[in-house]
Amino acid sequence: MRLLHGTLLVLACLTISIESVDRNNFKSCAQSGFCKRQRDHNPGEPTYKADFATLKIDNGHLSCQVENVKNSVLFQLDLFLLKDNRLRFRFNELNPLKKRYEVEGVIVDTLEEEKFVVVRKDSELVELKNGLNNKVALYANPLKAEFYIGDYLVASFNSKNLLKFEHLRTKPAPPEPPQENAEAQAEQPVQNESQDSEEPDMWEETYKTHTDSKPNGPQSVGMDISFHDFEHVYGIPQHADKFALRSTAGADPYRLYNLDVFEYEINNGMALYGSIPYILAHNKKFTVGLLWLNAAETWIDVRSNKADKSIFSKVADFITKSNEIPQIDTHWFSESGLIDIYLMLGPKSTDVFRQYGELTGNTPLPPLFSIAYHQCRWNYNDEDDVKNVNAGFEEHQIPMDVIWLDIEHTNDKRYFTWDSIKFPTPDQMMEHLSSFGRKLVTIVDPHIKSDSNYHVYSEAKEKGYFVKDKNGNDLDGWCWPGSSAWPDFLNDEVKNWWSTKFLLENYKGTTLDTYTWNDMNEPSMFNGPEITFPKDAVHLNGFEHRDVHNLYGQNLVKATFLGHMARSNGQRRPFILTRSTFAGSQRYGAVWTGDNTAEWEHLQISIPMCLTFSVTGMSFCGSDVGGFFKNPDSELMIRWYQAAAYQPFFRSHAHIDTKRREPWLFGEEAINLIRDAIHSRYSLIYYWYTLFYFNEKTGKPPMLPIWVEFPEENEFYDVDDQHMVGSAIMVKPITTKGASSVDVKFPGNNEIWYDVKSLRTFQGGSSTTFTDITLATVPVFHRGGSIIPYKFRLRRSTTQMADDPFTLIVCLDKQGLASGHLYFDDGLTFNYNSSKEFVLREFNFSNNKLISKNLEMSSLFKTYAWLERVIIYGIKTEPKKVTLEESGSKSTQLQFSFDSKSNVLLIRKPGVNINTDWSILLD
Ligand SMILES: *[C@@H]1O[C@H](CO)[C@@H](O)[C@H](O)[C@H]1NC(C)=O
Ligand SMILES: *[C@@H]1O[C@H](CO)[C@@H](O)[C@H](O)[C@H]1NC(C)=O
Ligand SMILES: *[C@@H]1O[C@H](CO)[C@@H](O)[C@H](O)[C@H]1NC(C)=O
Repeated sequence: MRLLHGTLLVLACLTISIESVDRNNFKSCAQSGFCKRQRDHNPGEPTYKADFATLKIDNGHLSCQVENVKNSVLFQLDLFLLKDNRLRFRFNELNPLKKRYEVEGVIVDTLEEEKFVVVRKDSELVELKNGLNNKVALYANPLKAEFYIGDYLVASFNSKNLLKFEHLRTKPAPPEPPQENAEAQAEQPVQNESQDSEEPDMWEETYKTHTDSKPNGPQSVGMDISFHDFEHVYGIPQHADKFALRSTAGADPYRLYNLDVFEYEINNGMALYGSIPYILAHNKKFTVGLLWLNAAETWIDVRSNKADKSIFSKVADFITKSNEIPQIDTHWFSESGLIDIYLMLGPKSTDVFRQYGELTGNTPLPPLFSIAYHQCRWNYNDEDDVKNVNAGFEEHQIPMDVIWLDIEHTNDKRYFTWDSIKFPTPDQMMEHLSSFGRKLVTIVDPHIKSDSNYHVYSEAKEKGYFVKDKNGNDLDGWCWPGSSAWPDFLNDEVKNWWSTKFLLENYKGTTLDTYTWNDMNEPSMFNGPEITFPKDAVHLNGFEHRDVHNLYGQNLVKATFLGHMARSNGQRRPFILTRSTFAGSQRYGAVWTGDNTAEWEHLQISIPMCLTFSVTGMSFCGSDVGGFFKNPDSELMIRWYQAAAYQPFFRSHAHIDTKRREPWLFGEEAINLIRDAIHSRYSLIYYWYTLFYFNEKTGKPPMLPIWVEFPEENEFYDVDDQHMVGSAIMVKPITTKGASSVDVKFPGNNEIWYDVKSLRTFQGGSSTTFTDITLATVPVFHRGGSIIPYKFRLRRSTTQMADDPFTLIVCLDKQGLASGHLYFDDGLTFNYNSSKEFVLREFNFSNNKLISKNLEMSSLFKTYAWLERVIIYGIKTEPKKVTLEESGSKSTQLQFSFDSKSNVLLIRKPGVNINTDWSILLD
């Protein structure tokens, strides 16, 4: 009973939630019919053969028919060469018995095709080249596709003949004696009969007490995909696992099936809340990305292999000169839908970020407050509690931008309402928070309490908006409010209806300073199979839940996003947090790693989990600071704040049964250290904001694995306890109890790294063991060659920081050069987009001159922020004078001091407005 608070429990939740601590509530591959069939698939003879007599080529689109030679079922293969070095490979039944589900709402690109040259075409092989001289080779028999960057083979599909596409079929007659059965089948004229042996799970499957009726029978799809000359692949979140994907030999495949996993285990490939079927492969020369666009339950096997060089026409040879080259063999299988693959051919990681971003969208620039610090708990109990927590931050002078309210603030889990006893005057509470420049986030979950007096329920019921069960009734399940129903967010009409619930006149007690948290959107249903919907539940257009499961959460978040746009009449940028994700969820907001635990291992795993989300588009990621379940001690709490200050989404959160843990409850030393950690985030908030701006423009995430910045340094390919924030800061958070030393590896063979606090420098290509560790130690390093804007004044929230002065920290590289950017705007509205109201400057130091250059000439944005000081690290000799030159104005001598021991120059009070052109000359 330590796990869930007694008063919260509806009986059905009790048993199931408590039980779900253990992994036995979730299927293994062996317990899943299609997973077993696909994983064990061993075709012997190749099964699929393309018929190039049917080949059509039109602009960037090639199509042909493919036959399953074992049962003569025909398929259509479409290959699209898309602009910006991308390809799409789509494989479907030629004449399916009924339409198979094709993912909607994820791809936002126009998919403009690129012309190509046919290099070779005969009955066995078609070779095409795109404008960048990248090649596709399509083999007819057996069907196989190879993808080259230049002459280098990087990926191949079906080279192991594991393609297995279960065509839709009519249900065989009930089992009878074997001979009769065979005759009966032979007489059926309707459909080319499968020669696949019928297996017990094909038409019905029982797991625990739940039976899946499988009205459409077997329909899974699977194929092998190999990455040649790669030793590392990444992505396919969400798993609580290492950043570099492991071999799944001897274990289950990585599973993608959005589930509410209670007290999840770490270091395995079990499914969690989100599913992004997107994988990246990286080696010294190339980065490629591959999206397996399928929203059904999906599993992925990963194996490291070696292949004999001689079997390739030409391969890259980066890793080994031996006759064997490494490759990663992956095997993907989904329960239904199509095979629809997008391949991003890079060739660099920044290209892949852009290519994937064009496909599925980038994270829009978040409002400034949302990348600052958030204070959450299940639950802040009432209005006084909220006010007291706010006052605590004031009293202890700890910055904080947002207070959060979990499910208990509502009238008995009826979202968009308030508990009238505990929150009688939400307007006044909002006004109070706003007066401190702070915001509020309230939770809005997708389960709607079945209560005909609750307007959200009665309207959705009347309009027929709820997801249906297999019998066509509204699906009824248990969740926090008790008996509940779930709107079918796949339906755009439902999204629009939902969005109106956020209008200020409809969501009483809130203001434009109120934002939203969508939780439980896997969807979580306490009495469903694996705590979610039955797969035979029915959505829009009769598609089964099986087809769309992993998309449900994203569609809720999209509907909420529309609600926030409507709420401010399109003026304010929404902020929404989601637990469930799919490819493209980054377009709507932030994600957190779900219900983690107050343990050191969970702090450690937060880094690879967020790195994985980052490289798969979901870049606004964080974990519950302190751990959701259980009680962190002060050391864990401090270390977690220190680490999370360098992760994109920074929120403390806790389970209702945990002890209160606001930052001032851990003693005087902890208060100071937690304040320092939070302050370190605020002092860098404009650097973070600039990174998010570039993330929106380029798809490059703010939090990065080291290899993105140092692509050739293979010793960093599996490093995930150390990471970059942008290209200028490297962090190695301390994530072990009682740490007395920490090893830091410095990348960049010709680079230099600065600890701007201790004034020490470190050579790239070396590593250092730091032994002078205290609780205050946070290993953070500036990269030589960087210029980073700081704001050091301690303020209660970002609102008060707008006009504060900047300090520029300049760290010179070995050539004495440095550069950096600063972006900011009003932090809140779309004016940066609609009327270019923003500041975008480039700073450049070379030839002993620091120049600030405007990169947005038509900027109308007015700022009072000014330049307070410049600190230059790595200056060899003391200048005689330091001169500020402003365009169109006289030059001014500036005061400075030089520390010859550490080569640091401090320049005082240039005093110029940050958005003017100026230069500072040292001579
Ligand atoms: C069944 O096979 C025949 C002959 O191979 C073909 O013409 C037909 O399109 C196939 N039907 C389906 C549903 O694939
Ligand atoms: C930004 O502005 C462009 C051009 O006016 C517009 O098409 C686009 O929808 C805007 N984006 C946002 C997020 O407002
Ligand atoms: C910095 O300025 C120098 C000299 O004008 C120029 O060569 C260099 O490309 C600039 N660096 C950046 C990053 O803009």
